[in-house]
This record gives sequence, structure tokens and C-alpha cells, in this order.
Amino acid sequence: MSNAHDRLLIIDFGSQVTQLIARRLRELNVYCEIHPYQSVTDAFLKDFAPRAIIFSGGPDSVTREGSPRPPAAAYAMGVPILGICYGQQVMMQDLGGRVEGGKITGGGGTAEFGRAYVTPGADRLDLLDGWFDQGREQVWMSHGDHVAEIAPGFRVFGTSPNAPYAIIADTARQFYAVQFHPEVHHTPKGAKLYANFVKIAGFKGDWTMGAYREEAIAKIREQVGDKRVICGLSGGVDSSVAAVLIHEAIGDQLTCVFVDHGMLRQDEAEQVVTMFRDNYNIPLIHADESELFLTALEGVTDPEVKRKTIGRLFIDVFQKYADQVEGAEFLAQGTLYPDVIESVSFTGGPSVTIKSHHNVGGLPEKMGLKLVEPLRELFKDEVRALGRELGLPQAFIGRHPFPGPGLAIRCPGEITREKLAILRQADAVFIDQIRRHGLYDEIWQAFVAILPVKTVGVMGDGRTYDFACALRAVTSVDGMTADYYPFTHDFLGETATRIINEVTGINRVTYDITSKPPGTIEWE
Ligand code: XMP
Repeated sequence: MSNAHDRLLIIDFGSQVTQLIARRLRELNVYCEIHPYQSVTDAFLKDFAPRAIIFSGGPDSVTREGSPRPPAAAYAMGVPILGICYGQQVMMQDLGGRVEGGKITGGGGTAEFGRAYVTPGADRLDLLDGWFDQGREQVWMSHGDHVAEIAPGFRVFGTSPNAPYAIIADTARQFYAVQFHPEVHHTPKGAKLYANFVKIAGFKGDWTMGAYREEAIAKIREQVGDKRVICGLSGGVDSSVAAVLIHEAIGDQLTCVFVDHGMLRQDEAEQVVTMFRDNYNIPLIHADESELFLTALEGVTDPEVKRKTIGRLFIDVFQKYADQVEGAEFLAQGTLYPDVIESVSFTGGPSVTIKSHHNVGGLPEKMGLKLVEPLRELFKDEVRALGRELGLPQAFIGRHPFPGPGLAIRCPGEITREKLAILRQADAVFIDQIRRHGLYDEIWQAFVAILPVKTVGVMGDGRTYDFACALRAVTSVDGMTADYYPFTHDFLGETATRIINEVTGINRVTYDITSKPPGTIEWE
């Protein structure tokens, strides 16, 4: 995006956690980009001119013919390289070492998944400054294959019981490689390792939100020229920040469209319209298309079909309104980095689809509008930082994220108007409880899911046969991983009582105590 900063290139070999590498680097104010290995050609490398390169992990095996490789030119650039997991194996294979498959073959190497402890080698390594104060460090291993023989010039600086080459380096060439994943939270001192790496590479750490804002504005102006842009506003943090950023870049060339797909929360549509009209002078079209969406979703129970249906209609609706805005050629969206990664692995990279995200799922190839996605490279907390940088009210910035498909993915099974009405009320009570107890800002996201099951209860002297619901509340840094929130039993009891008393149609309340992974935050 910019040549003004030193850039770090992450070559993606398809690990599910590649984006966390970028996350750790951004925290260090280092500008980096992730590119799938297929697109990293010699010409690309020359043009990108990275100050350092990281090889990500990946699901493939370097022992397989035709497995992913970096271009040979990467090793000849004279810049520091850090290989992680598959990235380590690829580096060893390329530079004259040897990698073996992971199955236990008579005592040699083994596959290794989960927590492990690394102990230091005999010599000190600049990459490991601050490591091994207590003798050993916890790391997160997740590999099938392993390095059986290291390449010439490399030495060992750390070992774990199952990974004799857990940390290796060729200090002359500044090539470093680790078998574990320093980017995940389960490697507590992983961030320090990245800090050391970028220091070795000479990064100044000057990539800030202020810089991002200026560059994003310049880029929007360049992309859009004097054409008009339509921006989908959801009232959430992402689209709000995107709208304000674009408005700052091109002023009244921007028209916002707020699509009410009938699966918003209680009073949400009204709040969004009022907030935007009061706070900003951005032209806003309020498109109530709930009938269209709810009719199309009748009888649909499959989560992916729901997502794709909503995504497709959303685009149709946009086109309809775009046609009313004369000269509109662009559609702006608050698509975030994790949306992009989980759907297609950044620009067609190799990782597996978890969910078709609303923002990118079902987007027709030959849509009449070009996309402006100024937040595409940011994580959620970075969007909040950008929002503050742009002077958005805390009320916008502090809002819990709300997914594009809305309540549809909090209503497993068939979506009916009746269930949505019940869900809205229960959700409002839950959020009210959280606010009353002063917990809103401690929680990343909280909501109710209405379950596709009715249960028997007793109220007063009568039998009830109503829906069960689940409360969901999680803490998270970026939505990529999450822990359930540890409410007190008093809080949960009080909330259950309130929901059952105040919401007709629900007679049983459960609390979802699944973390992510293995669960996801939303139910679908
Ligand atoms: P999951 O359920 O994948 O959610 O753990 C992670 C975060 O993403 C949000 N989410 C979405 N946001 N469009 C969005 O704009 C979507 O299709 C979508 N699906 C999930 C979710 O609310 C959570 O913050």
C-alpha cells in the first residue's frame, strides 16, 4: 500500500493462523502484507522490496512433490528471513537440509500438536533476547512433518522433547526458523520473538493509525477519482468507520445506504438512522427490504445457504439503490482482514473455508460496481483505533460487533418472524442486564441465540411449551479466538429469570460456555 514505510512480506503457505503473524507485527508498528505463495514471483519480490520476509506455516508436506515453495530469489535478497513450522521445513528443504514425514517410524521424529517446552542451545541468539530467563519457554507446536537434518550454515538454538530443531538459525545470513508458532497466545513470549526479529531487520516501528488514515484517504481518492460511491452502512463499527473515512476522502461523492434486512436487533434501524443523521451530514438512504429477505429465507435451514442468500440479496439491493444514485460506480464495504482470511484466505491463498462471510460471500463476479474496501487490511481493534483517530464518538466505537447476516445466524434452523420477534426481546433484556451490571465494555460480543427446540416448563400453575434460548458472551482481542465470559451464577440466574418473565415465547435459558476454537462466536 505504501512505499513510505519499510515493509515486511509474509509469504502465506496456508496456515489458519497466518493472519496472527500480521497481528503481532502491527502491534509493533511494522507495516506488513500477507501474500499467498503463488503470487510471490521474482518480479513481485523486486517490486515489493521487503526489509524482511516471514514464511508462514501451512498444511502441506514439503516431502510431497509439487508442494508450496517460496521463489529462490527470496533467499538471495540479503534480507532476514524467519520460517515458521512449514516455513521452517521449506527453508531446510530448499537450503540443503532434510525433512521427514510425521509418522513415528521406529523412534525417529514424531508429529507434535499442542503445548511443548523449549530449552536453549549452548549459544546465545539475538532472536531470543528475553527468552529462557526461567530456563525454558512454553511454545505451541502443530506439525506433522519435522526437520531431520538441518541445512549447512545452520545451528541449533533451542530444542523440545519432540523437536530437536525447534529453533535454528544461520546467523551469517540472518535466516531464522522455528518449528513452533510464536504468533499464537499459547506461545506466551512469541511477541518478543517477533519484536527481536523486526529489530534485527532494522524496522523503525513507524507505521501508526495516523499514517494509515492518510494513506487510506490518498488511496481512496486515487481509486475513486470524481466518481460516486455507495456505502453500505450497518451501524456497526466497521461500516461506520469506513463511511467516515471515505467521507473524509471524497465528501459528498459518498452516499450511504442502510439496508434493513429484517434481521436487525431491537430498535436498531431507528438508532442507526438517527445517529448518522444527527452526527454526520452524510446523505443516507434507509432501505427497508425486510420482506424481500425474510421471504427468500423461508424454509431455509442450512447456515451456508442462509449466508449466501443474504449475501446475494444484499448485493441485489445495493445495485437497485446504486442505480438511483447517478454516476455511482463504487460500492464501499467495511470488510475486515479476518473476514477476508476466513473466507478465501487472503486473495485466494490456500487455507480452508470456515464460513462464507457476508461481506464477500455470494458477491457476483460481474457486479456492476467496483469495490472500495478501505479496512480490508485491518483487524477489529485496529478499526477501533482508526475510528478514534477519525474522531468518531465512543458510542460508535464501543459497540459490540454485529455480523452482516444479523439475527439470521443467531436463529439456528428455520427463520420465522415469530422467532425473530422473540429473539429481539430476549437479546434486549440480556444486553440491558450486561449494561446494568457495568460489564458491556469488558465483553467483546454478547447476544442471545434462539434454539430450534421447544421445551416444557411450568409457570404459575400452568404448563408452558416454549422455545429455549442460549446466552452467548465472549471476550476476544480480534474475533479470531475467544473465551466465554465468566458471569457469576447470580448474574446468570437473574438474567434467566428476567428473560423468562419478560419475554413471551421463551421458557428455558442456557449459557454457552464454548470457547473459539473449537466453537465459533456466532452459532452459524
Ligand atoms: P465467528 O462466528 O466466525 O465470528 O467466530 C467472528 C466474528 O465475525 C463476526 N461475523 C461476521 N461479520 N459478516 C460480518 O460482517 C459475517 O458474515 C460474519 N459472520 C461472523 C462475528 O459476529 C464475530 O464478531
